[in-house]
This record gives sequence, C-alpha cells and structure tokens, in this order.
Amino acid sequence: MPVVPVTDSNLQKAASIIREGGLVAFPTETVYGLGADAWNPEACARIFEVKNRPFFDPLILHLAEYEMVFELCSQVDPRADRLMKKFWPGPLTVVLPKVEKVPDIVTAGLPTVAVRIPAHAAARELIRLAKTPIAAPSANPFGRLSPTTAKHVEDQIGENVDLILDGGPCEVGVESTIVAFIEDKPYLLRPGGIPLEEIEKEIGPVEIMKSSQRSPLSPGLLSRHYSPRTPFIILSGDLPKIDPGKKIGFLAFQKPPKSGLFQTVEILSPSGDLREAAVNLFACLHRLDNANLDIIYAEPVPEEGLGRAIMDRLRKAAGKG
Ligand code: TXA
Ligand code: MG
Repeated sequence: MPVVPVTDSNLQKAASIIREGGLVAFPTETVYGLGADAWNPEACARIFEVKNRPFFDPLILHLAEYEMVFELCSQVDPRADRLMKKFWPGPLTVVLPKVEKVPDIVTAGLPTVAVRIPAHAAARELIRLAKTPIAAPSANPFGRLSPTTAKHVEDQIGENVDLILDGGPCEVGVESTIVAFIEDKPYLLRPGGIPLEEIEKEIGPVEIMKSSQRSPLSPGLLSRHYSPRTPFIILSGDLPKIDPGKKIGFLAFQKPPKSGLFQTVEILSPSGDLREAAVNLFACLHRLDNANLDIIYAEPVPEEGLGRAIMDRLRKAAGKG
C-alpha cells in the first residue's frame, strides 16, 4: 500500500489499478475516498470488506463530467440540475433515481444512486484516466473518524488498499452535503460542505431528514458514526466535575478552556471561523483520539452555515446523532 504523491505517472498507475479491479485511496476536497470501478461489483465488494461496512450502506459515485449523470440516473429533477450546475465540482451529492445497470452493491439495492463531481483536480483526473465512475466512501473503517490526510488513511486501512494517492490535506474537511430528489420535496440526508442556507437560496425549502426518521431513504445514516475510540461528550453549559486522576481532552471552538486540568487541548478555529473549523475538525479528533485520553469533552459550535455539518459530526461522535 504505497503512499505516493500526485504526479502524472502515479495518476496513470492509480487509474490502471482501478481499471483492473483494485482499490485506490484518493484525495477529494472533503475527505479522502476509497475508490473502486463502479461497474465492477467484485471491486466494490472489496470496499465493504476493507471498511467492514454493512452492505445496506450505499456508495457515492464520483464523476468527472456532468453528462455522466444522464447515464446513471433515469430522471433528473430540475432542482437537482440547478444545484449540480451551481455547486459542481464541489461538496454536494445528489441522490436520484438510478438506471437499471448501476450495480446493486453500489446502491445497496435501492432504486436510487448518489452522485457527485469532486472539486479536487487529482480526483477528477483519476476518474478521467480510469474512464469509469468511481464508487467511493470515505477511506476509514466503518463508523470511525474520516480521513483528511493520506496519513489518516495509511494509519487506519493502509494495509488493505492497493495505492494511496497523497494530494495534501483536504480543503473542506467535512463530507459532502447530500440532497435526495426522489419524492416531491427535496430532502437533506446529510449536512456537509455546502451549507443548507446556500442550497435553499437556489431551490427553496429543503426538508431536513432527522436521524430519528430512520428511513429507507438514508440507510447509512446511523446515530453513531465518525466516532473516536475514546469516550466523547459534547458539553452543554459548564464543565462537569473533573477527576484529577483522569486524562481529559478538550476540543474547543475558538478559545482554550479556562481550566488547566486538560491533558490535551485542540482548537478548531482561533479566529472563530466555521470554514476553518470544518477543515480542522477530523485532524483535531484524530489527534485527541491518539492521545491516550480517558475522555474527550467538546464545546458546541454555532449551528449555522458549516456549523451544521460540524455539529452533526460531533453528535455522531458522541453517539447522539
Ligand atoms: O464527501 C463525501 O461525500 C465523501 C467523499 C469521499 O466523496 N464520501 C462519503 O461517502 O462521505 P460515505 O460512504 O462515507 O457516505 C455516503 C453516504 C452513505 O452513508 C449513505 O447514507 C449516502 O451517502 N448514500 C449513498 N447512496 C445513497 C442513496 N442511493 N440513497 C440515500 N443515501 C445514499
Ligand atoms: Mg463515511
């Protein structure tokens, strides 16, 4: 599982691995993906094996060209079309009715398929060279923290992938926003890198899918997900009493905590910028999780713009999604 930089020849190599049915971890602007040829069900099955991911959790197809949508989707709602034209390439995934030939393993047997064009140039070049849509979930074991660097991928699943393309740290840092167009109303299935406010500016009101509405619309959206191994608690109000014998970590939004009792402190954005906080989120969580702590406390962030995606990931890390 060599980790190699993005160069023309490594992109060629990665593309031939994909064409031959292998797995390549590659950078996107959101998080690193674990990619396989979407037309090859055996290769896609290996993604589930490597991630230990349940088969009911469908994969997103990554495209390089907008026209490909019409080969994969049987109907394209005009509102979806508007969002694709506005936000692609970028951290937006749309879920649309699929054409018959999209393999069931990709869609978990659903009649719909999720598609997006990533904003990372290396990702698009890889897709172009492989000449196929690339099915890719985030390149982490199922339920664990998403990877925003090649090193995160190497540490978590490195032994089981054929190649890791290192394209530097991800520029957005949280996964794509997922909007489904399968009923009359559009549904937000997952808050992500494009704020809901910007989506509603384009197409009007979008229904928010609550995690309590466990529905066949969003099979993969479990309440515990993106989790550190260390117990993780989101603070609401004052700090609880701290046992001095315990090693405690703190994830702050902007300012370090006043108490000096913390062993490790990570700050999401010293300037209080939600975009910067999203970029740093998973790297801060990986560091806290690797610091041998007994417990991690996290401060909530304002729930607006990208703050919605950040709070979604924090709640899921705490098992309260
Ligand atoms: O930013 C991203 O979206 C990253 C990068 C690699 O592109 N990918 C990513 O994939 O986050 P993953 O597998 O970790 O999350 C994809 C989620 C699934 O858990 C599932 O809930 C939803 O997308 N999904 C995929 N296909 C779907 C479908 N047909 N209907 C409803 N939800 C779907
Ligand atoms: Mg994921």
